[in-house]
This record gives sequence, structure tokens and C-alpha cells, in this order.
Amino acid sequence: MARASPAFGPPVADFEVRGEAGPISWRLERCMRGLAGKRILVAGSATGIGAATARRLGQEGAHVFLGDFRIDAAELVAKDIQAAGGTAAAGFFDLHDEKTIETLVASAVGAYGGLDGLVNVAYEGRAEYHGRDVEILSMDPKVWEIVLHGNVIGTALMIKYALPHLVETGGGSIVNITSPGASAGESVRVVYGASKGALNSITRHVANTYGVRGVRCNCVSPGAILTEAGQAAFSQEMRKKMIASMPIKRLGQPEDPAATIAYLLSDDAEWITGQIWGVNGGIAFRE
Ligand SMILES: NC(=O)c1ccc[n+]([C@@H]2O[C@H](COP(=O)([O-])OP(=O)(O)OC[C@H]3O[C@@H](n4cnc5c(N)ncnc54)[C@H](O)[C@@H]3O)[C@@H](O)[C@H]2O)c1
Repeated sequence: MARASPAFGPPVADFEVRGEAGPISWRLERCMRGLAGKRILVAGSATGIGAATARRLGQEGAHVFLGDFRIDAAELVAKDIQAAGGTAAAGFFDLHDEKTIETLVASAVGAYGGLDGLVNVAYEGRAEYHGRDVEILSMDPKVWEIVLHGNVIGTALMIKYALPHLVETGGGSIVNITSPGASAGESVRVVYGASKGALNSITRHVANTYGVRGVRCNCVSPGAILTEAGQAAFSQEMRKKMIASMPIKRLGQPEDPAATIAYLLSDDAEWITGQIWGVNGGIAFRE
């Protein structure tokens, strides 16, 4: 006899089936501790790591609010989560527009009556700027302003507006998505790396200052992830080179960092704060 597992809800389900050698029973521990029912805003979740994170959180029974400037695509992800039995809604924001950041946080709080977690995934990733983020002698200050404004000020504002709600809830968890580019000293993408270094620094400020109020703040630093953008950006030759230097012989899928993000939002991570978690198949060992 098998007792059906609820699609969402409490973490444990008991199973018993009749195998060839008699009854077999086991317990399925499906969820991370304390994630079910948590109200989590995922900023930048129309595609890639953010969309995978929103889906994973939905599977874990969290109440997910997706934010993105590609609102149609974010709403499709929310509908998918709902169709699978989860709780999700979506709202517009633009990293470059403070008012929309404030409104997004207010909408997430309004939808679920509070906030337990925030994931900052959105970044200034438009190819027109990345392609012009070159070595320092050729730097274009306008490109630097746009990247720093989106990645650093936009993300910091998201934290600024979410923090009081996390404190009001009695604590919560923030996960920022950084990059190995912060410490790699790459020959190009100088301001991208600098912006992610700033994010690491902001993460530790928040961890240090708000830990006493129950708020944890960590970074996840993904290696090469085959998101929609990654599929286009990594040539077969680049993939082979990267895999050759990795102990785990594959590139990442969006679900890899999503699992670590979900863990850091869960109560299983209640003693972890101010850390930068590399999720990269072992391609780099620092942070
Ligand atoms: N994919 C990788 O290999 C990789 C590696 C290291 C770090 N990262 C980091 O992971 C994060 C996500 O990257 P991804 O590969 O999933 O990219 P992605 O482009 O698929 O996701 C970024 C999301 O942010 C949204 N967004 C972009 N600009 C925005 C703006 N101004 N306002 C609101 N939303 C905006 C996009 O619509 C998208 O949904 C980024 O912070 C990136 O730096 C990615």
C-alpha cells in the first residue's frame, strides 16, 4: 500500500509498497527544514538561475513572489509553479528605478502578509554593456555607471526596502548572487567583477549588522551555468576547456545554484551568515 505524498506541505511522507520479497516501507524527506510556507521574494526570476530558484522554492512549499522587468516571462514561471500546486505571484521592477523596487517589496509583503526571505538574482546583464566592459585603459565611464547602478545600488535598494519586513517578521534570510569574477582578476568584465565584489561586501555588512535582529545574509557564487544566456555564451570549445579543469566533469545547470539558494533560505542554514558559497563543480576553491 502506498500513501500518496501531498504535492506540497510537511516534509515527510510514509510509504509502504509490496516488493517481490515482501512489504518495503520508507520515509521520504522531501523538503528542507522550515521552507514550507516561507514568503520569499526572488528578484530577477523570469529566466535562468532566478526562475529555477522560484520553481525549487515552489516545490518546497514556499510562497514565492517573482520580480522582474520581463514581467510576462516572470508571470509564465509563476503560472507554472501554480499549475504544479505551488503558491506564486509576480510583479514588475527595474533595478535602475528605486520606486519600482519599493513597490515590488510592498507587493510581495501585501500578497502574503509579510516577508521571510529575499533572493537578489537580477543583474545588469545586457550584452550591449557586457560587451563594452573591457580592460581598464579602454573603460567607458557610462558603462561603469550603468553596471554599478544596477548591480550595486539596485541590489542594495532591494535589501534596504526588504530588511525592515524581515526584521518585523522576527528574522529572515537574504541570498545575493555574486560571481567568481569578483575575485578572479579577469582581463575583461572589470566592472562586472567590481560590482560583484561590492555585493560580497554589502552581504557581510548586512550579516554583521542585522544578525542580532535575526537576519542572515549570504552569497551564492555560481560557476559556469547553462542558463538560456549561458547556452548562447559558452561555445563548445569553451565548455571543453572548462570541463577539463573541473573535478566534477560537467557544467552547471540552473538547478545547481537554486538548490544551494533554497538551502540558505531554509532553517537548516540557521547558523550560516556572511558567507560566499561557491557552486561551481570545483573549478575554483576560493570562497
Ligand atoms: N549563468 C552563469 O553562468 C553565472 C555565473 C556566475 C554568476 N551568475 C550570476 O547569476 C545571476 C543570474 O544570472 P543568469 O545567468 O541566471 O541570468 P539571466 O539573464 O537568465 O537572469 C537574470 C534575470 O534578471 C532579470 N533582469 C535583468 N536586468 C534587470 C533589471 N534591470 N531589472 C529587473 N530585472 C532584471 C532578467 O530579466 C532575468 O530574469 C546574475 O547575478 C549573474 O551575475 C551567473
